[in-house]
Amino acid sequence: MSKTAENLKEALAGESQACSRYMAFSEKADKDGYPGVSKLFRAVAQAELVHARNHLKAMDAIQGTVDNIKLAIEGETHEFKKMYPAMIKDAVEEKEMDARHSFEYAMSIEMVHAKLLKKALDDPGANADAVYHICPECGHTVMGEAPKKCPYCGVDASKFIEVA
Ligand SMILES: [Fe+2]
Ligand SMILES: [Fe+2]
Repeated sequence: MSKTAENLKEALAGESQACSRYMAFSEKADKDGYPGVSKLFRAVAQAELVHARNHLKAMDAIQGTVDNIKLAIEGETHEFKKMYPAMIKDAVEEKEMDARHSFEYAMSIEMVHAKLLKKALDDPGANADAVYHICPECGHTVMGEAPKKCPYCGVDASKFIEVA
């Protein structure tokens, strides 16, 4: 791998992390009573996403949509079959309960993601008008109306985030 290819990989990881971190900081700033800071973190997070997207383009890592779906299914499947089970095992051994909990939520929901993506692969032209609901606690991802209570973490339907 060339130095630049390695640098792009590193930069992509950094920007992606910054985006997640700033979105979490934004939520916290809101809770702490700093709406201005919250907005700033959201704005910068969005810009980091632009940087990440540009790095992905420079890496030639964005294929056609069918191939992108296949790659996403592979990634999600690896996460729920191999990555998270191994991480959960380590967390149990090390009695890291917060990490265990976080890994367990993610593992369950990656399974949901793989299923949704497999359906999309069957008919990529379908569901243009679909509305999705995301659980803010565990990330459960539902096509259509939110369930009364999240089946994974119990959060109320009213808290779900809509993606339309
Ligand atoms: Fe996922
Ligand atoms: Fe949930």
